[in-house]
Amino acid sequence: MQSSDPTTAPTAANFSTQAVHAGEGRDKPFHSLTIPIVQTAVFTFRDTADMVAYQTEALDNKHRPPEREEYGRYGNPTQQAVERKLAQLDGGEAALLFSTGMCAITTTLLTLLSPGDHMILTGDCYRRTRQFCQTFLTRFGVGVTVVPPGDYTAMEAAICRSTKVLFSESPTNPYLRVLDLPRVVEIGKRHGLRLIVDSTFATPFNQRPLQFGADLVIHSATKYLSGHNDLLAGAVVGSWELLAPIKHNRGLMGGIVDPHTCYLLLRGLKTLGLRMERHNQNGMKVATFLEGHPKVQRVYYPGLPSHPDHAIAKEQMRGFGGVVSFEVRGDLDSTSAFVDALRIPFIAPSFGGAESLVEQPAIQSYFELTTEQRLAQGIRNELVRYAVGLEDAEDLIADLEQALAKV
Ligand SMILES: Cc1ncc(COP(=O)(O)O)c(C=O)c1O
Repeated sequence: MQSSDPTTAPTAANFSTQAVHAGEGRDKPFHSLTIPIVQTAVFTFRDTADMVAYQTEALDNKHRPPEREEYGRYGNPTQQAVERKLAQLDGGEAALLFSTGMCAITTTLLTLLSPGDHMILTGDCYRRTRQFCQTFLTRFGVGVTVVPPGDYTAMEAAICRSTKVLFSESPTNPYLRVLDLPRVVEIGKRHGLRLIVDSTFATPFNQRPLQFGADLVIHSATKYLSGHNDLLAGAVVGSWELLAPIKHNRGLMGGIVDPHTCYLLLRGLKTLGLRMERHNQNGMKVATFLEGHPKVQRVYYPGLPSHPDHAIAKEQMRGFGGVVSFEVRGDLDSTSAFVDALRIPFIAPSFGGAESLVEQPAIQSYFELTTEQRLAQGIRNELVRYAVGLEDAEDLIADLEQALAKV
């Protein structure tokens, strides 16, 4: 399985050439063109000398684990192919795959933080990430301060002697705030902090935070990276120095991806560039249409000049993705009626696949809260998050138009 040339795409190649070829090697077992699904839980050693050579290599290279495998919880060749491809796409030295995006986040934070440490998190982010930091990490003596996205003064003011990690999504969820990466990298470096960017909404096609100096990039590969709404996975990308202890802890905590899922992810990644071009185009068209519609109160999309981070987004991003958040004029019920009148998107809590999805956060992710509690978290009842899929933008817009006409 191992090839003398595991990375067939030169790093200078354009995005889709890398997406198709990187990390796969030219010579594969059985002359197969595609990377095989290596469906095994264990890997064997020829004799004791072979085992000793493996153990010695592992001991001598603490920051760069051996390429051959030992046991399925520590790695698998199909998984390694995806990790190599992702590392190259994001411009990192290496990548690690996890069973979900949340597993990538929790394993990384549990590795980087110890009791007595402190971390800073930007507020507008995936609710489960915030819950993990504020209700789980705090139980183990980690201090957590949440600062509003875009408030760099508050971010710097929150830094104390025990602060070790700055964590932010970019773009954020659901208001698609874009982190001023050079500014945050400068703050982080001045205070000796690790900057982790959850880049799920951008993918390496639209944004590469490592190039700006971020230490680690996290993805929910469940979304655009796999691209077909049919698997769960997560990834962390960065240097081996930072990833080696995270890999060790992945082996302890066990959040790995099975080889078949890895294969589906590898297949999805080959079309990432093509799909993101379409998501970017569709997102821009839908956002522009919504902003011009009298029944829409406000649209949040970083590609629109009305977005507070439009200038930063234009500087840092190639495109702005397929998620468009907006508020419909009306209330909780009329917004639900609008969502119910849509015929193309499915009501579902994700994004990044071929099928458009729509959610009203007040009814989905923030259901158990009162209107006041939601507002305290910045979520209005009339907010809709529309995840544009790969359909034709004209059909999506016609569908939105007929649904808006009904409210
Ligand atoms: C920005 C972001 N990060 C992380 C996650 C968690 O990913 P997963 O559902 O793969 O655990 C999500 C899920 O929606 C997300 O939107």
